Amino acid sequence: MLALIPSVEPSERASVGQSANSVKTELQSEYDAAMSALSTGPTAESLDVTLPGVPPVVGGLHVTRQTMYEIQCIFATMGFTVFESNEVETDEYNFQLLNIPPEHPSRDMWDTMYLEEGQVLRTHTSPGQIRAMQRFHPEPIRIILPGRCYRYEAIDASHESILFQVEGLAIGTGITLASLKGVFEAFARQFFGKDRGVRFRGHYFPFTEPSVEIDISCNCEGRGCPVCKGTGWLELSGGGMVHPIVLENGGYDPAEVTGFAFGMGADRAAMLKHNIEDIRLLYTNDLRFLEQFT
Ligand code: FA5
Repeated sequence: MLALIPSVEPSERASVGQSANSVKTELQSEYDAAMSALSTGPTAESLDVTLPGVPPVVGGLHVTRQTMYEIQCIFATMGFTVFESNEVETDEYNFQLLNIPPEHPSRDMWDTMYLEEGQVLRTHTSPGQIRAMQRFHPEPIRIILPGRCYRYEAIDASHESILFQVEGLAIGTGITLASLKGVFEAFARQFFGKDRGVRFRGHYFPFTEPSVEIDISCNCEGRGCPVCKGTGWLELSGGGMVHPIVLENGGYDPAEVTGFAFGMGADRAAMLKHNIEDIRLLYTNDLRFLEQFT
């Protein structure tokens, strides 16, 4: 405005100059007041230190990790300790020592991701059984083995290509299939609650004999959800009595000891517990989903 004054009609110059000056004075005094407020800082009247602050955003454990810890805690109450094993395995440990020779048709049960020179990304936590046996024999064993596994899977609501398993292994004298049934049912009651059904079905695994699959009743109670494909049951675990050949490969004498083993899906356990309808929700990192469990 001040710069424009020379171009204003002479008769109006005085009044335009006056209003320009009053605006300038007003702005200057507001500016000076604001600067002095900043330099002296907030006064006791302007700052209420008792007001709650803005909480920082905190992270939390992923729901699958929480589930694995909860499973570990429940088995700890039954005397199982945690044993961790390799994610990159050899063909020998992932298959051969588990009674699955090269070219054995049961290899089709695991769609394997092969690395170089006979190595694989472990398809299940079972090779950890052999590593634990070789380490602890001839002592009795009661361990669980949590970990990530990899499969070249067709991904759907209940199958991922990176999955978590918790393996269990107990070796000693007098262990029977009834021991597995008792331990697994005790776990399921504590983890899922008393109202959920547990079902053992005969099955085949090369490293257990006899073998079972263990199902937990689905939250939808068979009304038809994509997770259980309308059957009312979701397969949670494989299991059975450790095969004598596997006991021998681990350094035990099958005439002296017996053992049970199981391998459950930890992602599936989380889904069944929290009514999660699609396994892919666990790993798409949508915070709106994940924050429900922190
Ligand atoms: C096994 O992996 C055996 N090693 C289990 C076992 C251990 C049997 C010890 C006997 C003794 P299976 O492929 O069925 O078996 O997988 C076990 C569990 O892992 C399944 O019941 C399921 O809960 C989970 N699982 C398997 N594949 C997937 C997948 N692609 N995505 C998510 N969970 C899976």
